[in-house]
Amino acid sequence: MGKRMFTRRQVIATTSAGALATLINWPYRGIAIAGQDHKKLAIQGGEPVRTGAWPKWPVWDQGAENGIIEVLRSGKWWRGSGGKIAEFEKQYAELMGAKHCLATASGTTALLVALHVLGVDAGDEVLVSPYTFIASYNVILLSKALPVFVDTDPETFLMDPEKIEERINDRTTAIIPVHIFGLPVNMDRVNEIARKHNLKVIEDACQAWLAEYRNQKAGTLGDLGCFSFQNSKHLPAGEGGAIIGDDDEIMDRCHAFHNCGRAYGSVKATTPYPTRGSNRRMQQFQAVILMSQMKRIKKDADVRLENALYLNSKIKDIPGIIPCKLADGANRSAYHCYPFRYKKEYFNNSPRRKFLEALNAEGIPCWGGYGPQNKYGLIQEALNSKGYKRLFTEERLRRFREENHLPGNDQLCKEAVCFFQNVLLSNKHDMDDIANAILKIYENRDKL
Ligand SMILES: Cc1ncc(COP(=O)(O)O)c(C=O)c1O
Repeated sequence: MGKRMFTRRQVIATTSAGALATLINWPYRGIAIAGQDHKKLAIQGGEPVRTGAWPKWPVWDQGAENGIIEVLRSGKWWRGSGGKIAEFEKQYAELMGAKHCLATASGTTALLVALHVLGVDAGDEVLVSPYTFIASYNVILLSKALPVFVDTDPETFLMDPEKIEERINDRTTAIIPVHIFGLPVNMDRVNEIARKHNLKVIEDACQAWLAEYRNQKAGTLGDLGCFSFQNSKHLPAGEGGAIIGDDDEIMDRCHAFHNCGRAYGSVKATTPYPTRGSNRRMQQFQAVILMSQMKRIKKDADVRLENALYLNSKIKDIPGIIPCKLADGANRSAYHCYPFRYKKEYFNNSPRRKFLEALNAEGIPCWGGYGPQNKYGLIQEALNSKGYKRLFTEERLRRFREENHLPGNDQLCKEAVCFFQNVLLSNKHDMDDIANAILKIYENRDKL
């Protein structure tokens, strides 16, 4: 009879947590050394693995407070009368390794400006990652174009580049790869396909400050890259956003459009308002906060990365826990969230909801990531609207509905578990708490 071979995962699946801790050289702190009561899950009244606080976010310093007062007292609150925004743009472009940066009111407005300037028009189709914050869809709908979803690879949490081409037709004008959670998309493949089909690439890097793909910053790899500086972000200013790009003329058009269509650079004042536009401007106060936040962004990014890699090494062998894989060519994630997948089969078939409840109760704040938003009301509302019925044939809208099934994305939406970025600003000791809490739940999986 042939010898039965077990994979490492199968061996671990049949091993108790105490033995598992030894097997993977784990400091099973707080459980192994504690009494029986400590083994009881916190949701069942046991003592939580952790009661301590996590780092707060956002944080700021006296410099920001002084800067805000200075702008306030100057009365120069908008970009037309003060230079703080231009100063920030220069710094941010340098940080990203881009030729130009245009600051905007938000990440959503950055994406809207980019779509307009790169020629996305009513009746066009734009390919987009479905696993994202809803703004990535909304900007396409607001441009009166069709957001065509490219299924997600659950392993990477990102647009599956091998599913792009099947969604392209003669109305497709652009691709929005989303570097969700700061995980860089396989941009070599995206750009290769875009070149072949003459499509524009707008990177939604709204969660990807300092993430890198082949040692280049996310946001510098497509035609334009868009960022968000909303309160929860790694470079926060309450609200705010930016577009970065290397093409002088395109960036001039971004500037003109974001400033109500006024002339700028190569967009000449043939008439007072030579192009269409909108007010998408940043305020001076935002720029002051951003310049102060820039002082810590690199250091914070290193801490998050170090802790994320450490956490990967701690949880990767727990049965049913699958850390996220970086896409081919991605060499650094920004970890706006730390994501992994939960396989309920290894946890006595307990639904993810139970796992999340148990982990939160152990003192580890977590959430289940994004839902299957491609099925949310906004899509049907748009498709049923007067405008979309005018812009797209009945046959096209029928086919869109038919093709709006994304098995990879659906799977991920059921399996994802995420930690917020501030958790990663902690230390290795606290990462051990996370790993210990997951292991404790695994050990008690029959009681979930
Ligand atoms: C992936 C993604 N795209 C776009 C946005 C929109 O940015 P904002 O909230 O600054 O408008 C966000 C913000 O959370 C985001 O996470």
